[in-house]
Amino acid sequence: MSLDDLYRRVIMDHYQKPRNRGRIEDGAVTVDLNNPTCGDRVSVQMRVKDGTIEEAKFLGEGCSISLASASMMTEAVRGLKVEEALRLVDLFSEMMQGKDVDFEQFPLEDIEALSGVSKFPARIKCATLAWKALEKGLKNSQAIGH
Ligand code: FES
Ligand code: FES
Repeated sequence: MSLDDLYRRVIMDHYQKPRNRGRIEDGAVTVDLNNPTCGDRVSVQMRVKDGTIEEAKFLGEGCSISLASASMMTEAVRGLKVEEALRLVDLFSEMMQGKDVDFEQFPLEDIEALSGVSKFPARIKCATLAWKALEKGLKNSQAIGH
């Protein structure tokens, strides 16, 4: 199996069996964003306590890339400190610029499956939608001192 096939499988797996799809009931920061190019929306929720992301969930409509990316993101950030998650957002965005990114400090593999998206500019917005929502929510939660 080529790396491309492997990556495609990982993306389809997250799309078909999204992790953390749903709502957090209590005390969550919610950010709704839409992709202006296609009108698809994602709503990301995160529960932050003492500077740590205890939980992240999402809901939304969108293409396979956007939903798989949201699923990967919610898995990746659980348990991270807010600053670590913001660093991860930066790394993800560097990967979307086609840079060779080393995610070693983070215990995740799936996210690299999206690296190929950087070759398709129209789809970068799809892949980054949930991450932008996360970033906005984390900055809000920092601002209100969670
Ligand atoms: Fe997402 Fe075109 S805007 S594929
Ligand atoms: Fe709308 Fe990808 S086409 S988010």
